[in-house]
Amino acid sequence: MISASNPSLDLRPEDVAYFRRGHLENRIFWRRMGLRPALHGMRVLEVGCGLGSLCVDVALGGARKVLGLDTDSRLIGFATTHVKHEFPQIADRVEFRDLDLGDYHGEGFDLIISKDSFEHIMDLGGMLEEMKRCLEPGGRIFAGFGPLYNSPFGHHGRIITWLPWRRFPWGHLLESEERIVARMNRRREEGENIFCYHDGPIASIRDLGLNQNSLADYRRIIGQSGLRVVSFRVNQSANCLSKVCSLLRYLPGLEEYFTHNVYCVLEKV
Ligand SMILES: C[S@@+](CC[C@H](N)C(=O)[O-])C[C@H]1O[C@@H](n2cnc3c(N)ncnc32)[C@H](O)[C@@H]1O
Repeated sequence: MISASNPSLDLRPEDVAYFRRGHLENRIFWRRMGLRPALHGMRVLEVGCGLGSLCVDVALGGARKVLGLDTDSRLIGFATTHVKHEFPQIADRVEFRDLDLGDYHGEGFDLIISKDSFEHIMDLGGMLEEMKRCLEPGGRIFAGFGPLYNSPFGHHGRIITWLPWRRFPWGHLLESEERIVARMNRRREEGENIFCYHDGPIASIRDLGLNQNSLADYRRIIGQSGLRVVSFRVNQSANCLSKVCSLLRYLPGLEEYFTHNVYCVLEKV
C-alpha cells in the first residue's frame, strides 16, 4: 500500500485520508472544548493518539515535546513513519509509542489530551490515576469523547443486533449482551469481518473496544479521580440531531439516553 502524497512510503491510502480528515476534526475538537490551551513550550501527552493527527497539530502549535500513546501498534507504526516523512520540521519533537501509560516512567507533562478515546479505555479510573501521576501540578487534561454507550449511536456501528441496520439508534440496548455476542460469534465463523480486540471468540461487548460506561459512570469516575473539574460540557455538536438531544435530555429519566458526548477539562491540583 502506498501513501497518496509520497509514493515511496508504505502507508495505506485510507490511513492517509483519515489522517487528513483529522485536520478538520482537530479544529472541531478545540472548538468543542471551548478553548485551545497555550501550547508554546509545553510538554504534551496524547492518550489514544491513533494515527497521530492531534499530536502533529499540537507540535505545529509550538509544543516543545509531544508523546502520542496508543495500544494499537499498527496505528503507532503509521504515525511514526508518517510524521518522519511528511512533517520533518517537527519530527524531533514528536514521538509515538505503543505503550500502556502505566508503563511510562519518563518526564512529566504539562498537558494531556485525549480525543474520542475515553469510551474505548476499559479501566478509565485506572487511566485517570496514571494520567494524574504523569501530570505536573497545575497541569490539565483536555478530553473529548463520544458517542456515549447509552446514546443513540453508542454502538459505534460495531454491534450486530437482530435489526437489519447496524447503525439503528439505540439498537444495541434493545437486546441482551448474551444474544448479541452469540450472534456476532456466529457471523464471524461464517466469515464476516468483525472488529474485535483479539482473534479468539468474542466474550463480551468490551471485546469490541467499547467500555459501556454510562454518563453516570463517567461522572462518578471523574469525581473519584481527585482531579479538579474545570469544565464538563456535553452534547457539543452543531448537528440538528444533537440540538434535539440537548432539549430531550432535560426530560426526567432521559438524560442518559440523550447525552451523546462529553468535552471536559480536568486539573491536577
Ligand atoms: C476511536 S480511536 C481515536 C483515535 C484518535 N484519537 C482519533 O481521534 O482519530 C480510539 C483509540 O484509543 C486507543 N486506545 C484504547 N485503549 C487505550 C489505552 N488504554 N491506552 C492508549 N490507547 C488506547 C485505541 O487503540 C484507538 O486507537
